[in-house]
Amino acid sequence: MSPFIKDASVQAVLAAAGIVDVISGYTSLRKRGATYTGLCPFHQEKTPSFTVSAEKGLYYCFGCGEGGDVVRFLERAENLSFVEAIEQLGERFGVPVEFEAGAGPDAARKDRESRLLLLLDKAATFYQRFLWETESGRAALDYLEKRGLGEEVCRAFRVGFSPDEWRGLKRRATKEGFTDRELEEAGLLVRQTGKTYDRFRGRLMFPLVDHRGRVLGFGGRTLKDETPKYLNSPEGPLYQKGRLLYGLYQARRAVAEADEVIVVEGYTDVLGLVQVGVGNVVASMGTALTDAQIGLMLRFTGNVTFMFDADRAGTDAMLRSGELARGHSLRPMVALLPGGRDPADLAVSGGPEAVTKVTAGKVSLLGFELRQALARGDTSTADGRVRAFEDVRRIMGRVSSLKEREEEIPLVADRLRLSPDSVALLLRGGRAPSRSDAVRGGRETAMLTRRLLGSETAVERDFLVAAACNPERAVDILGALTPEHFADLDNREVFAGLREALALMTGPGDHEAAFAKLRSRAHDDSSVGPLFVRLVMEADQGRYSVAVLDELCLRLQEQYLKREIGALRATLDDGEDRVEEQKRLVRLERLLQSVRANLKDLDPEEGRT
Ligand code: GTP
Ligand code: MN
Repeated sequence: MSPFIKDASVQAVLAAAGIVDVISGYTSLRKRGATYTGLCPFHQEKTPSFTVSAEKGLYYCFGCGEGGDVVRFLERAENLSFVEAIEQLGERFGVPVEFEAGAGPDAARKDRESRLLLLLDKAATFYQRFLWETESGRAALDYLEKRGLGEEVCRAFRVGFSPDEWRGLKRRATKEGFTDRELEEAGLLVRQTGKTYDRFRGRLMFPLVDHRGRVLGFGGRTLKDETPKYLNSPEGPLYQKGRLLYGLYQARRAVAEADEVIVVEGYTDVLGLVQVGVGNVVASMGTALTDAQIGLMLRFTGNVTFMFDADRAGTDAMLRSGELARGHSLRPMVALLPGGRDPADLAVSGGPEAVTKVTAGKVSLLGFELRQALARGDTSTADGRVRAFEDVRRIMGRVSSLKEREEEIPLVADRLRLSPDSVALLLRGGRAPSRSDAVRGGRETAMLTRRLLGSETAVERDFLVAAACNPERAVDILGALTPEHFADLDNREVFAGLREALALMTGPGDHEAAFAKLRSRAHDDSSVGPLFVRLVMEADQGRYSVAVLDELCLRLQEQYLKREIGALRATLDDGEDRVEEQKRLVRLERLLQSVRANLKDLDPEEGRT
């Protein structure tokens, strides 16, 4: 299962780990029948929809759909990797974890890594004490005071000050037994023509802490007018700029509670906002976000609001970050700062009210881009409006959600002095006089199709759940279907898995082996695993009746046939004589008619539980 840990160890840990024990540390569980229920630790709710089955070793939330085994729970709740989760469980339940020969994190490397982490942590403490407890720290304290950053927030982020001398840190670290080599690897020491000296001297120190609270590096701000303004740790085995989000460790709880993360550019922006009570804030550290950073945020929320400086650099970084966020199906928002202000100034000078005003006025990134484009163009002439509309079309084209695009139609209509209906028509490519417009029109159509696929996917999922609820009937139905009946690739996999599992039944009522098989799929690759968990848990609750299964089966066939017919028609469009295809088309159309007739026969009041 894992490339590193011996499979036997994984099995032993899973057998020993008590899922109820583990999850009880995160939410209070009540026993109800064979399962335990409680408030879901992964989303906000007032009534419990989170269930844990000790006997099955699985959890599932009927509210948010999160589910899996105890390992997945720890992966999600503690942001651990699979290997880390198994190691932690092994420790807790007293099961030794063995690695495949040569594949595990070798002990020597692990030791070296923990030495470096210890050194970095001690350095953070050293800088902190130098700031608060020495005469030389005075200058930095004055600076912080001038910036309006108080002691509480500075301590929460472990802000410090590095001595303005060549070897202040080195002397101390050497005394504690660290070698120059280790100091260099940690990025704290620079070696030049044989001589070594502290990298950070006379700078305000911001420890760069990962989401698990480990210090991996530092950003050091000069107190003078020196360049660079910020000196950062070099990238190394531990610190990689694009993999860390400044402030995420401190913000985790607030982000989950608000179900939103505010992304700013700078360290001081984070401190300024936290100081006025806005805790759900992280910094991209002056550049565009990376995919890895977006992945980190996604563990806590899907709602991202950018609050970047209103200058050119800030806007560019935000647009690039926004584009990446869209790639993760996010719908980024933008909180616009008054010109010339960064979030830190705003918070310090205007207080919580000023920040609330900015966040309350947030707009979608799409709306922001459109406003910019429309303000740039000259909309007083017909030509100008045509050009502005081309910009609009291009910007809209980057957003795949039709709903999101439609929301901005009134804005565009207003600025271009058109009716919303005509804007909608134009966007659909209805005008299409030129070749390039036809191409764009084609893309719009492709998007519409994708949206349709969205609801098709839901029918497919419900069908699979209904099948799991009614195994006896499902055996026959599934036998008659093919993977192509499912448009969604995950659903295809679940279909195949369910069919395989149900084939283990030897007669009516013999479900045990089939469901054991399904449960074992809970560990599958992250997108499919939860779907199997959902099948097992919902089957347990008997969510759908046989009548519903039959209806969903018809709907599934209907959408499959429509897809096939559409595709076939498209190939027949080329004017060639294709007798076979023609015949198949007629056959499929007849089938579709009969499926539709069957659907019509269903009494709408019946068949729903
Ligand atoms: P203050 O000027 O102290 O308020 O800092 P700031 O955070 O407002 O700085 P700025 O808006 O100029 O930059 C935002 C972020 O970009 C900083 O917090 C740093 O993370 C990063 N940054 C800015 N300048 C530099 C630099 O010279 N080098 C590096 N490595 N990073 C920088
Ligand atoms: Mn700034």
